[in-house]
This record gives sequence, structure tokens and C-alpha cells, in this order.
Amino acid sequence: MPRSKIAGIGKFIPANRVTNQDLTKYMDTSDEWIQERTGILERHYAHRTEETTTTMGVEAAKIAIERAGITPQDIDFIVFATLSPDYYFPGCGVLLQRAMQMKEVGALDVRNQCSGFLYAISVADQFIRSGMYKNILVVGSEKHSFGLDFSTRGRNISVIFGDGAGAVVLQPTEKENQGILSTHLHSDGASAEILAMYNPGTHANHWGAQNYADFDEAEIGEMFMSHTMIDNAQNFPFMDGQSVFKKAVVKFPEVIMEALQANGYQATDINLLIPHQANLRISQFVQQKLKLRDEQVYNNIQHYGNTTAASVPIALCEAWEKGKVKEGGLVCLAAFGSGFTWASALLKW
Ligand code: COA
Repeated sequence: MPRSKIAGIGKFIPANRVTNQDLTKYMDTSDEWIQERTGILERHYAHRTEETTTTMGVEAAKIAIERAGITPQDIDFIVFATLSPDYYFPGCGVLLQRAMQMKEVGALDVRNQCSGFLYAISVADQFIRSGMYKNILVVGSEKHSFGLDFSTRGRNISVIFGDGAGAVVLQPTEKENQGILSTHLHSDGASAEILAMYNPGTHANHWGAQNYADFDEAEIGEMFMSHTMIDNAQNFPFMDGQSVFKKAVVKFPEVIMEALQANGYQATDINLLIPHQANLRISQFVQQKLKLRDEQVYNNIQHYGNTTAASVPIALCEAWEKGKVKEGGLVCLAAFGSGFTWASALLKW
């Protein structure tokens, strides 16, 4: 059974750079608070009308496809991970297929938030291993800036997130010592509501989510999207940051160790760990727990914020462009986020 390898990788960062200082124009926050709690100095926001989650994904995909030495017409399957799609439906996968004038190939959207890219490459990896597809495009892209509360009310969330996209092309490899060695996926829905965007949705308050709208029961349409919801800012994400932090610092090391143990490696063997860029403090905690040296861990949240499904491919691409990912190197990708879902992938470059 062939393994899959990353044959090409690309990223796209929108031009509009937004510093912590810039955010103080809209909300009561400070550069000092943001840096101290998250490590973030700046993030980038997509152009309001000319860039979407899909168009950014397309730009990253063009680079990944070119670096893989193929054309968009060679792609035989698309997996697109995002929590900020252009439309509620259909997903971004088909919009990308159309924009890149690809053949009528399958397009799958993955909704696994911060671990979306890891879930997406795991799915793609299975298709390559089974022999079903030969050139799979995997994209992670987010346009968070369109769905955040930029008033002081939303500051605990808004300062963290940024926009951007990353993409890889997976292909089969017959080389003995190359490719994705394993992927490991997990979930625990017990805390689904502590990092979530409830509305618009079909929950009709069934789960007792906090932050829900005071619906007029007589108007079923109102339960999906109402003026009350908008007036009360209930159309924005909700996060209990401290609970997320506490779970993340347990699950990140756990899923990294699971990947290492499954393949007979130890933490000292890792050449580069690319953790999902949730918060620099979380990455530092994980590094400490696994006793990794600075050069074994790649972080770039300082410049992009948390770009959710795009964060791992953006960081991997940047590390590769800087020559930090070397042929034969042991690379570990890991993510944790809303759901909760968490995942890892171990690969030989
Ligand atoms: N600027 C200034 N003050 C802010 C602020 C901001 N952007 N956001 C929140 N605060 C305030 C709060 O209102 C609170 O004030 P109070 O003490 O007067 O009530 C104070 O700062 C502390 O808030 P708290 O939420 O307890 O801060 P924290 O130390 O937990 O840091 C996070 C908040 C969000 C940075 C942190 O919890 C975190 O990173 N969690 C993980 C989140 C994450 O990774 N999410 C992505 C999922 S992968």
C-alpha cells in the first residue's frame, strides 16, 4: 500500500496587516495585553469584498499545485477545510473547483475548525493509500475577519483570529522512508458549546447553549436568524478561553505522543513540530511538557494570529520556505480546537 507524501505546498496571506495597536481603535484592548496573553503582534485581514475564504484557498492552491509540478486539471479530489465558508452551503470545495477550472472531480468540505486541516489530510491520506486518487488538493482557509465582534464585548475572541490560507498536494510515494506515517483523530463533544458559533443554526436552543437568542416561538424563521440575535450580538463566536486552554495543554502533548509511539519514535526524534497556532502560550507549554528544543518547534502566530484550519499549512509552508523542513526530516503536525476535536500527523519529508 503506497503512503502519501506532500508533493507541493503553498500559502496565501492577505496584504492588509492589522497590528494590536490598530485594534485599539475599535475596542478596549492593548498591545501589551494581547502580546502577554497570546504572543500575537499582528494578523492579516482579507480584503472585504475582493477576497473570500475560497479565493484565498485558490491562491494557496495555485502555488501548491505548481510546486508539485502538475496543473489544476491533474487534481482528482479536493478536500477543503474551513469554519468560515463563503456560503452556509454549498461548501468552498466546489467554488474552488469552479474557480480553478478543474475537472468534475469530487470536492469534500471538512468542518473541524482548528483541527480541520489535520482531519482533511487524514481523509486524503486514506484515499491515496487505497489507490483511489493520485493527486489530492487539501486546502485550509479562513476569513475570520468577516465574522468577529470588533466591539469591546468580543475582544477576548477578536484579537486572536486572523485570515489566510494554506494548501498541499498529496501524491502516492513508493519510497521506503517518506510520506505520512500515520494520522490520529479524536473528539470529545462534552464541551461543544464552550468554543462555538451557535447562530445561525438549527439548534432551536435544544442544547441550552449560552448566548442564544430570545426567539419568538411563533416565527420559525426567526429561530434561525432574527433581529434579536443580531441586536444581542448572538451571531458571533463564543469562547470560554480558560477552559479551552486547560484542555488544549493536555490533549496536544497526548496526541503528539500517540503519533510518536505508534511509529516507534520519541520526542527527541522530532525534527520539526508544527502545532496549530492557537496561542503562543499553549505552544510553549507543549514544548516544555515534551522537553523540545526551540529549533524543534515552529511558531508564527506572532504575525498571523490564529488562522484556524489554515494555521498548520501556513506554518508548514513558511517553515519549508525557510529551509527548516529537510528531506528525510521527521515532522509532526498537531492541532486542537472547537468540538473539541484534536489530531496529529507524523510524516517523513
Ligand atoms: N484586551 C484586554 N482585556 C481583555 C481582552 C482583550 N482583548 N480580552 C479579555 N480581556 C479581559 C477580560 O475581560 C478579563 O477582565 P476582568 O478580569 O476584568 O474580568 C481579563 O482580561 C482576563 O480574561 P480571561 O478570559 O480570564 O483571560 P485569559 O488569561 O484566559 O486569556 C485568552 C484569554 C483567550 C487569551 C486565553 O484564555 C486563551 O488563549 N485561551 C485559549 C483560546 C484558544 O486557543 N482558542 C482557540 C482554540 S484552538
